[in-house]
Amino acid sequence: MKRKLITSALPYIHGIPHLGNIIGSVLQADVYSRFCRLRGENVLFICGSDSHGTMFEITAKKEGTTPEKLVYENHRKVKEIFRKFNLSFDYYGITDSETNRELTSYIFGKLDKNGYIKEKEVESAYCDNCKRFLSDRLIEGICPFCGGLARGDQCDDCGKLIDIKEIIKPHCVLCGKPIVFKKITHLFLDLPKFEKELLDFVEKSSRWSKLAKTETVGFLKQGLKPRAITRDATWGFKVPRKDYENKVFYVWFDAPIGYLSFTKEYCGDEKEFEDWWKNKDTELVQFMAKDNTIFHSIIFPAMLKGCRENWKVVDRLVSCGWLRTEGIKFSKSRGKGLTTEEALKKYPADYWRFVLISLYPEQNDSVFSMEILKETINNEFADIIGNFVHRVLSFCYSNYKEVPKIDFVEDKILEETKKIYREITKNFEECRFQEALKNIIHYGKISNAYFNNNEPWKKEEEEKKKISFISANLVKNLAILLYPIVPKFSKQVFDFLEVKNIKWENAKEFDFSGKIKELKPLVDKL
Ligand code: 2FM
Ligand code: ZN
Repeated sequence: MKRKLITSALPYIHGIPHLGNIIGSVLQADVYSRFCRLRGENVLFICGSDSHGTMFEITAKKEGTTPEKLVYENHRKVKEIFRKFNLSFDYYGITDSETNRELTSYIFGKLDKNGYIKEKEVESAYCDNCKRFLSDRLIEGICPFCGGLARGDQCDDCGKLIDIKEIIKPHCVLCGKPIVFKKITHLFLDLPKFEKELLDFVEKSSRWSKLAKTETVGFLKQGLKPRAITRDATWGFKVPRKDYENKVFYVWFDAPIGYLSFTKEYCGDEKEFEDWWKNKDTELVQFMAKDNTIFHSIIFPAMLKGCRENWKVVDRLVSCGWLRTEGIKFSKSRGKGLTTEEALKKYPADYWRFVLISLYPEQNDSVFSMEILKETINNEFADIIGNFVHRVLSFCYSNYKEVPKIDFVEDKILEETKKIYREITKNFEECRFQEALKNIIHYGKISNAYFNNNEPWKKEEEEKKKISFISANLVKNLAILLYPIVPKFSKQVFDFLEVKNIKWENAKEFDFSGKIKELKPLVDKL
């Protein structure tokens, strides 16, 4: 069987992640990892904090601290939030690590030796007042398209990419003074040299999500250009090359190398590390939001291929849309939307996980609001799932203190279960999480109808036992199917049923009977 290396885009941690960051990277990867583990696959799920980039300098300055302090303080906070969200990383690292510094330098060295790094003189924005070159994030002005706020090379309001020279009244974010342009030399990854190889790679990649494919093909159509991999900044990994001592690697150069470094830190052992990253039997599955796509589909694969060392490149690339709230993208950089810290203070993690997966923006952006949260939790999670579990298990407990054992059962619902199980499994395999959850809710409705229509409380003993047995197994099946999405809820159900060693395949079986515990309500209405 293939080994699955699952990664989630590494969140920037200059602020506390928003709900949009949760669904766009870590949660979808977590749901998929939990599903694969439950099926008995050999999974390694890694992630970590993306800790470099100019935003740290800006935020640190605003908060009167240093980038280093900010990074390590937030790293701790973010790790804690992710723990509360029940994200089941096998390893969560930080890109500022020594391992990552070494590997970044190693990969840069290989690329350079193989002729994929070139020097180029460019015109770059400069602040005469601060006496420094300004990277994208340090330039703001008016968007030439919509009049909104242009930040660096992108408008925060209309989302269009902007040439810095076209920004109206561009100024330095640090001091507010107008910017000028000056010539300077930078190092570039020579992407055009990979053109044929990359076109071929993208064409042969048949297991990417639709969005991942369209974003990538759109990018390739514009033609590949060399990409700068150095920046004039102080926070980041210093570039190990003469005349570049005052520059650092662009954050998007060392961040994806973090995937390798974290695996290495996790394994602790070179051989095991290479077993993951240089092995044909590894399937590399990478999750992210759409704006991260080309870094994972084009640039990072080029970096890895250029080493000519058989590094594993992405097999399945899953990128999803954005979660919006009232038409605004959740954006950490502008502090919009609910932070996860605030969210977890309001409601338990499972509620958020449930609603975020029900809104999973597989292809199109989706909209979040507190009303949607309330409706989804009350009408689906509480009414259809929680209430069913409670009624069935209370009925079994008060009548038998157990789920009665039945020798032979036949019922339409056994066949229906097999069919729904196949659909749900397929949807999880294909990362259609929203669809999977819809199927589960549908199964929940059928289960409710079964219990209500059969009215076990009115039946003779034999029939009553049979209905109890089937209903309790529906509860168990629902809990297994929901486990990737709401793990805490499912574990509680398993606990009442006193079942252990749950396997995904058990979700289609009617195989459970035996002692159960007295139940407490599991899902409170909002
Ligand atoms: O967009 C982001 O949040 C980035 N920090 C993602 C980085 S993913 C990686 F490291 F490749
Ligand atoms: Zn300035």
